[in-house]
Amino acid sequence: PADPAAVPEPAPQSAEGPAPELFTWEFAADPYPAYAWLREHAPVHRTTLPSGVEAWLVTRYPDARQALADARLSKNPGHHGRSSGRTGIPGERGADLMTHLLNIDPPDHTRLRRLVSKAFTPRTVATFEPRVREITDRLIDGFAGNGSADLIHEFAFPLPIYAICDLLGVPAEDQDDFRDWAGLMIRHGGGPRGGVARSVKKMRGYLAELIHRKRADLGSGQGGDDLISELIRASDHGEHLTENEAAAMAFILLFAGFETTVNLIGNGLYALLTHPAQRARLQESLARGETAPLATAVEELLRYDGPVELATWRYATTPLTLGGQEIAAGDPVLVVLAAADRDPSRFDRPDLLDLDRRDNPHLGFGHGIHYCIGAPLARLEAQYALSALLRRLPDLALAAAPDELRWRGGLIMRGLRQLPVTFSQEG
Ligand code: HEM
Repeated sequence: PADPAAVPEPAPQSAEGPAPELFTWEFAADPYPAYAWLREHAPVHRTTLPSGVEAWLVTRYPDARQALADARLSKNPGHHGRSSGRTGIPGERGADLMTHLLNIDPPDHTRLRRLVSKAFTPRTVATFEPRVREITDRLIDGFAGNGSADLIHEFAFPLPIYAICDLLGVPAEDQDDFRDWAGLMIRHGGGPRGGVARSVKKMRGYLAELIHRKRADLGSGQGGDDLISELIRASDHGEHLTENEAAAMAFILLFAGFETTVNLIGNGLYALLTHPAQRARLQESLARGETAPLATAVEELLRYDGPVELATWRYATTPLTLGGQEIAAGDPVLVVLAAADRDPSRFDRPDLLDLDRRDNPHLGFGHGIHYCIGAPLARLEAQYALSALLRRLPDLALAAAPDELRWRGGLIMRGLRQLPVTFSQEG
């Protein structure tokens, strides 16, 4: 009998019919048909975002890849033609924490990125592995005896926040405060609302104090091997990192590494639970102790339903042509990673989840000089989180019909609000 949780194999997305309505709740639940239409009929498409800002959406894979690496497209929001007033454009709030990697261009970008990239090589991230295992296992221990759980709130959400806190060297006793601030930021989707502004302010104060404390520790010869201590050491050795830049760096690592990872784990679990045959094969390979199929599967989960839908703001510094479309200086350009990664001109049967997909140069972590610096950590967290859950709770099943689940309506990230599951208690 057919598994009720299984979604049927998709027909290729049809690009027929009238222009789709963007940014509705229906679109949030399944944006892929709209993206198929845009790729076909308006691959570089001017639209009005819910915030009222006009921006170009880039949906074809070759254009997306080009735009992500095009030096004429700046990450600095100062280039936005109409940046007066509140636009909802990232980078306009809490200005002093915003001079970070995702808002700057070379040469400042080159200098700051060099400083932090030391912490993110696969080798250094591997040394972090035991800690990720410990956090993951502790979280699963917390609900394994209950027979049911919401895997967003009890698992996907806390895991990356504790991991990043450890990475930055936030002491254990402060990590729950961090979790609360981050929770507020994620719940309000980064909009310019009171709760978010307060959380950002608290986090800024906390980070400034933490940096002072770590600098003092280093001065007295104690200092840890966490990332903030590394950044302070580097700046004390003439690499010119201001205290504000250090705080902004800590903030962007938290901000860029948190909700993304929540959604990779959440969307990934959802895809696995709704594709039982492929999930069973993955579970079998895990039971045999193989790790390569897991790594390939996580790349496919990033492509198929990645966490970053279009959080890739850029601003034209000069008039330019992209995908045959003229773009004026000052115009915002949004590369729609979720659309590019389903482009049939690059991916074979792109609407099909294929956990064994080999030819998979997805753009889920971006491309070019802003390529995700946290990718090795994100891969480690997702691989361990998914494999630990599937191993310890092998009969994990979705406890809601797919159309009962709610997706966050944000523009930036794609992710579920809840993921209710049931399972037999651990054997
Ligand atoms: C940049 C995705 C996890 C830190 C990016 C970009 C993407 C991305 C698409 C490029 C944005 C652009 O070009 O406009 C993801 C995904 C993740 C993830 C899908 C998880 C599944 C992390 C983690 C960290 C992190 C865990 C750090 C702890 C950063 C930073 C940048 C970045 C600092 C800016 C790099 C630069 O501008 O040079 N990420 N990310 N990310 N990511 Fe990630």
